[in-house]
Amino acid sequence: MKRRFLLPSLAILGLLFFQGTTKTIPVSENLHVEEADMPANVKAVVDQKCYGCHNAASKNEKGKAKLDWDAFEASKRAKQLATKGKILEVLESGDMPPKKFLENKPEGKLSEAELATLMDWSKSKKK
Ligand code: HEC
Repeated sequence: MKRRFLLPSLAILGLLFFQGTTKTIPVSENLHVEEADMPANVKAVVDQKCYGCHNAASKNEKGKAKLDWDAFEASKRAKQLATKGKILEVLESGDMPPKKFLENKPEGKLSEAELATLMDWSKSKKK
């Protein structure tokens, strides 16, 4: 007797499981996530080439005062746009990372691809 119910209920369970695992994330949620964070490729360059001097705990007081990436992420859009303007300036003039620093650490220099990534991003209006 019991067996007759086993198969249908297994089928229903299977269906529920299938629906649960294949559920796609709505597009709006994806967009939201992208807006909340800097693009991953930009972040990767910043982490490697800029963040060391420009973060809330940096011992480089001058660098920290001018730009703190930790604060940047949390700051308002208008402030971010202003900061991005500054970033574009230093990239165009080749002032960052500082020349003095690169004398001791040439591998800290931005590659052409990295420079292009940061330039494109700092020109865009998105975060
Ligand atoms: C070795 C430490 C160091 C690294 C690495 C570094 N910076 Fe800086 N940054 C500084 C210092 C120091 C200042 C302040 C310079 C001054 O006041 O003359 C500064 C200033 C700045 C400013 C402000 C300029 C202004 O005039 O307001 C921006 C923007 C900036 N850096 C962006 C970057 C970016 C983007 C990178 C990565 C590509 C980077 N920095 C990497 C140390 C660093």
